[in-house]
This record gives sequence, structure tokens and C-alpha cells, in this order.
Amino acid sequence: MQKILDAILADELGELGSLPVPEHYRAVTVHADETEMFDGLPNAEKDPCKSLHVEDVPTPELGPGEALVAVMASAINYNTVWTSIFEPMSTFGFLRRYGRTSPLAKRHDLPYHIVGSDLAGVVLRTGPGVNAWKAGDEVVAHCLNVELEHPDGHNDTMLDPEQRIWGFETNFGGLAELALIKSNQLMPKPAHLSWEEAASPGLVNSTAYRQLVSRNGADMKQGDVVLIWGASGGLGSYATQFALNGGAIPVCVVSSPEKAAICRKMGAELIIDRSAGTGEGYRFWADEDNQDPKEWKRFGAKIRELTGGEDPDIVFEHPGRETFGASVYAARKGGTIVTCASTSGFMHSYDNRYLWMNLKRIIGSHFANYREAWEANRLIAKGRIHPTLSRVYPLAETGRAASDVHANTHQGKVGVLCLSPEEGLGVRDTEFRARHLDAINRFRGV
Ligand SMILES: NC(=O)c1ccc[n+]([C@@H]2O[C@H](COP(=O)([O-])OP(=O)(O)OC[C@H]3O[C@@H](n4cnc5c(N)ncnc54)[C@H](OP(=O)(O)O)[C@@H]3O)[C@@H](O)[C@H]2O)c1
Repeated sequence: MQKILDAILADELGELGSLPVPEHYRAVTVHADETEMFDGLPNAEKDPCKSLHVEDVPTPELGPGEALVAVMASAINYNTVWTSIFEPMSTFGFLRRYGRTSPLAKRHDLPYHIVGSDLAGVVLRTGPGVNAWKAGDEVVAHCLNVELEHPDGHNDTMLDPEQRIWGFETNFGGLAELALIKSNQLMPKPAHLSWEEAASPGLVNSTAYRQLVSRNGADMKQGDVVLIWGASGGLGSYATQFALNGGAIPVCVVSSPEKAAICRKMGAELIIDRSAGTGEGYRFWADEDNQDPKEWKRFGAKIRELTGGEDPDIVFEHPGRETFGASVYAARKGGTIVTCASTSGFMHSYDNRYLWMNLKRIIGSHFANYREAWEANRLIAKGRIHPTLSRVYPLAETGRAASDVHANTHQGKVGVLCLSPEEGLGVRDTEFRARHLDAINRFRGV
């Protein structure tokens, strides 16, 4: 592995194809025999530090249409939090089901799961049938793993019946020194970013792009008022940028003055602090079973106060159970609630009268197809959208990185250095970077 790293650091990328591929590599895993370790504990007490291991694993065999990538950096996504706390279910079921689909997929069904759905790195080897990429290419990952043997996936690959999120529903993910990936998951690394910056937008940037911008999602247009939950978090920090970049008007919901300050740094002006201490202290649920419509109305009134009397054309939803009733209520007549997640609980309830009488629509959105991810990555490469990396950990401390995200003590994205020995490496275009440095750094150290 050291020879591979030395070649990358010495910028001798042409050598990589001839260097031997290591038989083992370090990776972040969860173990199949530990999936019950948190049984009976409340969600908040399930600690990713206890379930995520950093260990040596054998390098998988490279198959047709695949690439083996030397991973310089990766990032924490909430899906790694879900995997590490075994909620809402253990991800070994995904690996077993995938393993039953073909002899090649059988490689993924192991007693350990190598997690991680983002990477920035360098291609080491490509399998038979790969023509668009070669050893030495600097890449980032699109985390959609599809088979495309069924007609359903051919208009929109997200509709493929064999669609999986790499590093969550497949093995050999990006929180590791090496990663196995299909070649149709590779995208060019933005030249002005360091490895850890380039690795951080991937999954959330593409998800927010489809959810908010794409015709498959809310199809946002200029002037739309967009209510964004968790506006300084993983998804929300990109949704906020897409709204601003696309001429829409974001109304950012956050839970602290520090997070509000970050939204202002991104250029947002309309911000709601939802927290009890410093902000509005909304209690949308009066008790376990009943929501409080008076609180929805108080929330709606706050939005109108900020917008000069307008309701959101689009609500960018992901907290789920806690907020969904308020989201359906707050959207404007004819507006759209677009949802991709249920962090606080997946059994949602809302007052359907506000939906049908006011002709609102709920749209389900999930990750992004290759085209959408490519467009989202292109916006990063062109300096229109910027990484929102706040903190970076070494691979050995991935558990702590995931704990930060689980405890919601992070901002934007939390990065992980895999092979890269330090932060700041991998920048190719220093001149372009200098023009965007303030925007690239606005989440750092907060
Ligand atoms: N379907 C997909 O393709 C897809 C893709 C990416 C992520 N996801 C899912 O989307 C969710 C968010 O991911 P993320 O990366 O954005 O996570 P994140 O970085 O933790 O950000 C989420 C933000 O949501 C806000 N939030 C959390 N609980 C809330 C609650 N009960 N009420 C209101 N706001 C709340 C928090 O912001 P404040 O505390 O500042 O309000 C938090 O920072 C996760 O469940 C993840 O699994 C789905």
C-alpha cells in the first residue's frame, strides 16, 4: 500500500497500473455477530464508536465493469450512522439478498460490512469491459450501484429493480484504503479541491440536487420560496446552496445561532432557529400520539413574517415524523413537499385536509441517477456549489466522526482521511481554488 501512496503523493499516477495491488487493506467495518449489541438501548445511546471497527480485510476480486480505487479520503453519511447503530435494521440483510442475485454479487455477502458511500481517490485497476476509465484517473464516487438488466431502470436508473446504495446496501464501501466500485459510479474529481473536500459532497449533493432541482424531484424554479429543514446539515447545506444558486429564496431552519450564522455565510437571509434554548422552541407533537396544530400555525406565521406573507412553494423534508405534519401544513396552496428521509421516525402523520383541499403534492425522492449526480458534481467542479466540510478525522477515528453526526453536533459534512496522510493534498488547480477559497472554507472549524 505504501508504494501506491508514494506514487500518488509523488504525482506518478502513470505508475499505478503496474504496481501490485495489496492483498489486504484497512477498512471500517461492522460485524454480523454484533448486530444485537445495542438491543434495548434508546437511539441516542447507541454509540457508533463501539460498533465501527478499523481492521485489515482481504482485497476483493475485481469483476467485469468494476474498478478498484485507492481511496485518499471519504466522508460520513447518515447511512453509515444507520448501519453502525443497526437501525432501522441491520444492513447484513441487504448483503445477503444482494449475494443471492449472482455469483459475482456473492462476494458482498460477508460476516463484515465495509461501509461508506463517498470517496475521492485514484483508479488502480479496471475490470473487463471498462473503457471510459483507466488506472491513474482521479475520481470521486457516485454511490448508485445498478445492474440495468431490467427495462424499468432505463429511463431513470433509480427505478432499476436492482438499485442499491454502494457502501450501505453493498459491501466494499469508501471508508477504507481501497474500494470496489462499478465503473458507472466514477466521476472526475474537481481539480480545485483537496482529497477530503472532493470526497465530501457526493451523496448529499446528488441527493439534494435530485430532490430540489431535478424534474424527478421538486423542479425548483427562480423565485420559489424553499423551506429547508436542517439547512446547515449534510443535505440541507447543499439544498440551501442550490436554492440560492438557482434564484430561489431559501427559508432555513436550524437549531442554534451558530448554525444560523453558517446559513448567513452561505448567503441565506431568512432563517428560523427551531431550538428551545435560543429560538422558537416549536413542539409540533403535544404528546407521543398527538400533534399540535397551533404549533404548525405558529411556525407558518413565522415563515410568513420572514417572507413578507408568502408560504413555501417547496418544503425540503427529511426529519420525518417530528416535522412532517408542520411541513404539509406550511407548504403553499399547490405547493410541493419533497421528502427523502425520516430521521426522527418513518411513520408520518399529517392532516390530509391541508393536502387535498389545497392541492399540495408529496414527492418521494431517493438519491440520484448517474446523470443527476454528474450534473451536481459538475456544479462543484465549476465553483457554483461548494463543499461544506467542517471537520476531518483520520480513518482510525471514524467511529468518533460518525458519533458527531449521530449526536447532531456537526455542521455540514464530516470528512475522513483514508490514505491521504494529511489535509490539503490533491489540489490541481490552485488558481481556480484561490478564487473560491472563502466559500470552500466557510464551514471549516465551526
Ligand atoms: N434518500 C436518500 O437518498 C438520502 C440521502 C442522504 C440522506 N438521507 C437521509 O436524510 C437524513 C438527513 O441526512 P443528512 O446527511 O442531512 O444528516 P445531517 O447532516 O445529520 O443533517 C440533518 C439535519 O436535520 C436536522 N434535524 C434532525 N432532526 C430533526 C428534527 N427532529 N426536527 C427538525 N430538524 C431535524 C438537524 O439540523 P438542525 O438541528 O440544525 O435543525 C440536522 O443537522 C438522514 O436520515 C439520512 O439517512 C437520505
